[in-house]
Amino acid sequence: MSILKTINDIENIKGKKIVVRADLNVPTENGTITDNSRIARFAPTAKLLSDKGAKVIIITHFGRPKGKSEEFSNKILLNELSKEITKPVDFIDDTIGDKVKEKINLMNDGDILLLENVRFYKEEEANDANFSKELGSLGDIYINDAFSTAHRAHASTEGITKYLPSYAGLLMEEEIDALTKALENPAHPAIAVVGGSKVSTKLAVLKNITQKVDAIVIGGAMANTFLSAKGYDIGASMSEPEMKETALNIIEEASKNNCEIILPIDVCVAKEFKENAENKFVGIDDVNGDWKIFDVGPETSKMLDEKFATAKTVLWNGPLGVFELKPFDRGTNELAHTVAKLTTDGKITSVAGGGDTVSALKNAGVESDFTYISTAGGAFLEWLEGKELPAIPPLKK
Ligand code: 3PG
Repeated sequence: MSILKTINDIENIKGKKIVVRADLNVPTENGTITDNSRIARFAPTAKLLSDKGAKVIIITHFGRPKGKSEEFSNKILLNELSKEITKPVDFIDDTIGDKVKEKINLMNDGDILLLENVRFYKEEEANDANFSKELGSLGDIYINDAFSTAHRAHASTEGITKYLPSYAGLLMEEEIDALTKALENPAHPAIAVVGGSKVSTKLAVLKNITQKVDAIVIGGAMANTFLSAKGYDIGASMSEPEMKETALNIIEEASKNNCEIILPIDVCVAKEFKENAENKFVGIDDVNGDWKIFDVGPETSKMLDEKFATAKTVLWNGPLGVFELKPFDRGTNELAHTVAKLTTDGKITSVAGGGDTVSALKNAGVESDFTYISTAGGAFLEWLEGKELPAIPPLKK
């Protein structure tokens, strides 16, 4: 049972004006959407509400505009949204005010309306009380389906809940359930993969999860900082020398919690940061000079395969190597395939999140084989850090 108030808890939906906060902040290139996942994952909530006869009023931000601008208009979302919901979606070029209310008053049961980018108003990010109240005055009920923006205490994610009865949408419910299972009550052994370039950006995550999982695989340039802290020569590899002490503290903290920190035992090194740069596999004792570590090596992959074979839960955030440049995606791809296979064989629950992670899993071609892929980037990280996301408490039972 969900810890949240959900759509099932709303009585008499038909005819109600429901303000739904989605996160349709999708990546674009030259005015074209390059990944519609967030739209596709939100669509079932909008469709369900419309099928039940609600007047569905959708609020979202798109990008980080500074004031109003054509470039950040929500109009770009309209076609894709309508396609995914499989129903027409109307649009209005404002977010609050009389014009918006008049338009809403003309809606029929089941109609769907997308409002203009809520971040065109600076009051949104300021979580301004009057603005929150204005947003609240647009409808009878509020539904938050934007887990990926739940780490922001903004007017449309937090402020509005003071003015309308508030519930979680289907995607919000799904995200919270999956993440709670993987991090709060994981089946053990639980292994986390934490990759990325900087220990400093994942410090809070590492501190929190050493208390929750049985092992953490450190990947990416972060692993270089750990290796260097342990006294290995990392050649000319990227690292954060000022974080070495912290890395040693994490290892100590982890060991107190019986959490194993897993570092590469061999690596792929190259001298140039470019696709297909001359490269070689070396043991972790043999990195030196102007060689740089770009990926883990095959011995590490073998060791990880063996460790993961006994796992029950895998939580993944961050790649093992520079997966954007071939052949330095090998280590990430191999582990991704191992986790995908264990998942489809029913042996583990696998949950992944964070922008880079999802791209890496897509690059490996396994994103649909994981138990759950979160739509969130920053919010997923803050969840892993153990922080309370400000948009969630108002949705709890
Ligand atoms: C995201 O893309 O992570 C969310 O939409 C939040 O966007 P923001 O970082 O601009 O608040």
